[in-house]
Amino acid sequence: MEREELRRRLEFYRDLGLTTLYRKEKAVAGAAPAKAVDALVEAAPAPIVLPTIEPEGDTLAQIREDIGDCKRCRLHEGRHKIVFGSGNERARLVFVGEGPGADEDEQGLPFVGRAGQLLTQMIEGTAKKEGIPLLRPDVYICNVVKCRPPENRTPLPDEMEICGQFLYRQLQVIQPKAICALGSTAAKALLSTKDGVTKLRGRWHKWRDIPLMVTYHPSYLLRPYNQNAKREAWEDLKTVLHYVYD
Ligand code: URA
Repeated sequence: MEREELRRRLEFYRDLGLTTLYRKEKAVAGAAPAKAVDALVEAAPAPIVLPTIEPEGDTLAQIREDIGDCKRCRLHEGRHKIVFGSGNERARLVFVGEGPGADEDEQGLPFVGRAGQLLTQMIEGTAKKEGIPLLRPDVYICNVVKCRPPENRTPLPDEMEICGQFLYRQLQVIQPKAICALGSTAAKALLSTKDGVTKLRGRWHKWRDIPLMVTYHPSYLLRPYNQNAKREAWEDLKTVLHYVYD
């Protein structure tokens, strides 16, 4: 396997949350040594045969089919509808939220409640003000987890890990020009970071090779004492829209 291909593959496994790989050693009795994926990405040296888990010729329809009537984690227990994502499948810009709330769970569509209305306003209002002809259906919107967490709690690491594979496939299929991560859960899922939004926002990061901006989650902006953040979120969005659509 080519060195670059190996690096790419290892980064993919790390994105999926697989932090340890086991290598079969010939003629050595007992367990093969485990290696941290980070260490392997650093070194990317000897050929390691890894199974393909990024399907060839993947499509959004295929991903939705693979999700099926998902029972892979506990979130399925309380959900009404799986919220896969919506918008333009060939969008140049993808927004990633945390997970469905009550309205989204009922309708099966992302960002349709109060936070969703604010997100729509932010996208369409900023675009209009900046002279960019863009409406919400032109972008693609999805979440890290596709089922509503009980009481709208933050998704747990294992839930993010399991559902994250579908998010990565969605992004890999759409190949947008930029990604906007809404809030710290999306940032964590896409950047494998523990840093919060305040630290990450306002500058470009990368998910694989795709430029990624982190900004505040619209639910956070709905709280009356976060009005400063609102101004910053508008700035972030302006930066994103000009980068993608200029
Ligand atoms: N909050 C999210 O993170 N996603 C939604 O779809 C709705 C609210």
